[in-house]
Amino acid sequence: MAQLWGGRFTKETDQLVYNFNASISFDQKFYKQDITGSKAHVKMLAAQGILTEAERDQILEGLDGILRDVENGTLKITDKYEDIHSFVEANLIDRIGDAGKKLHTGRSRNDQVALDMKLYTRDEIGEIDKLLKKLLETLLGIMEENIETYMPGFTHLQKAQPITLAHHFGAYFEMFKRDRQRLADIYKRMNLCPLGSGALAGTTYPLDREMTAQLLGFDGPTLNSMDSVSDRDYLIELLSAMSTIMMHLSRFCEEIILWNSNEYRFVEIDDAYSTGSSIMPQKKNPDIAELVRGKTGRVYGALTSMLTTMKGIPLAYNKDMQEDKELTFDAIDTVKGCIALFNGMVSTMSFRKDIMEKSAKNGFTNATDAADYLVNHGVPFRDAHGIVGRLVLLCIDRGIALDDLTLEEYKEISPVFEEDIYEAISLKTCVEKRLTIGAPGAEAMKKVIMLEKKYLEEA
Ligand code: ARG
Repeated sequence: MAQLWGGRFTKETDQLVYNFNASISFDQKFYKQDITGSKAHVKMLAAQGILTEAERDQILEGLDGILRDVENGTLKITDKYEDIHSFVEANLIDRIGDAGKKLHTGRSRNDQVALDMKLYTRDEIGEIDKLLKKLLETLLGIMEENIETYMPGFTHLQKAQPITLAHHFGAYFEMFKRDRQRLADIYKRMNLCPLGSGALAGTTYPLDREMTAQLLGFDGPTLNSMDSVSDRDYLIELLSAMSTIMMHLSRFCEEIILWNSNEYRFVEIDDAYSTGSSIMPQKKNPDIAELVRGKTGRVYGALTSMLTTMKGIPLAYNKDMQEDKELTFDAIDTVKGCIALFNGMVSTMSFRKDIMEKSAKNGFTNATDAADYLVNHGVPFRDAHGIVGRLVLLCIDRGIALDDLTLEEYKEISPVFEEDIYEAISLKTCVEKRLTIGAPGAEAMKKVIMLEKKYLEEA
C-alpha cells in the first residue's frame, strides 16, 4: 500500500478500507491523460520559476518513460497504488529521485482528477462523434440508393401513407445529426481548464493558469476554483446526450427487429449479425438489435446514478464524486460499442423492396390521396373523407386494395371519380407528389440528400 498522504497517520489503513477507497482499478483508464496533464503542469511551473529547467526536463523525461513503459507493457499498473495519480507520482520518484517529489507542487488531486476526467471525456467525445459520422455516412448511402423504394409510413404502427426507405432512414439521419451537434455543444461548454484550482481554493504559488489551459488545448482556465473541483455537470450533460443517442439507436433497433420478423420481412439481417437458437433450428435471431435496445437501459441508469450522486454534495470536492468514473466509462464504452455494431448491422442488412412495396399497396396508404382527388374535383374534404372511408370498407370486405376496384364501383359511391383515379392513387404518384422540403418525393429527397452530403463534408 503506497499512500501519498501517509505522513499524518500512525496506523496502516485497514485493508478493506483501502480496497473500498481505491480507484486504481478503473482510473488507470486515463493514465495517458494524467501524464499529459502533469507534463503541462511541470512546464508551467518551470516557466514561472517554481522549478528549474533542469528539474523540469528530468520530470518530463521521467513521465515520458512511464508512459512508454506502460504502453509497451513493461510497467504494470497494479493495485499496490491507491489511484492512477499515486501510481504515476510514485513511479516518477522511483525513476528520477528527489526532482519527482516536486511534481505535485501547487496541485491537488482534486484539480488533477478534474482535469484528467475532462481530458478523457474530451477525447471520448471525439471518438463517439467519429462513430456517429460513420453511421451517418452509412445511412446516407442507403438513402441515396432507395429514393424510389416505396414502403408504408406508419402512425400508431398502422399503415398511414406511402413513403420511401430513403425518407424513413432520413428521419434517423436527422436524429443522429442532432446527437453530434449536442456533443459539440457539450465540448464547447466543458472546454475550460480546472488545473490550478488546487484542493478548492487555488494556491499561493504564482501559477500561470492561462498557460496550462493553452498547453492542454482548452479555451481558457475555469473561473472559480471551488466549482472547478466539484463540477461534474459536463458528465451529466454527456450522459444525457449519450442516453439520447441510445434512445435513437433503440428506436431504430425496435423497427429493425419488427422489419426482420417473419410477419414483416422488410429486411433481412445478415448472417454475420444474427444468431441462432440452441433448440429451434429454423431461427435466425436479431440479437444485436435487441442487445443495443437492451443496453439503452444501462446508459439511462448511469445518467440517473450520476444525477443522484451529485444532488446532495456540499461544495467543494467530496469522495462521492469518485463514483463518476465507472458510470461514465461504462456508458461511453457501451455507446461506442453500440454505434459501431449497429453500423455494421445496418450496412450489411438487405432490404426486401418488393415486400415493402406490396405492404404499402395493401394497406390503404393511398386513401388520403383518393380523398384529395375528390377535393381537387370540388368535393369538400369532410365529404371526401367519408366517401373514401366507404370505399375502404368495401375493399376490406372483399380483401382487395383501392387500386383493384373497377371504375363502376368507384362511380357507384361517387360519380366524381373518372379513369384518372388509378393514376392519382398509384404508389408512385402518392409519393412523387409530396414535394415540399422534408417530404418523400424524389425531387425533394434529392435536395435533402445534397444538403446532408454537404453537411458531412463540412462537419
Ligand atoms: N480518486 C479520486 C477521485 O476519483 C481522486 C481525487 C482524490 N482526492 C481526494 N482528496 N481524496 O475523485
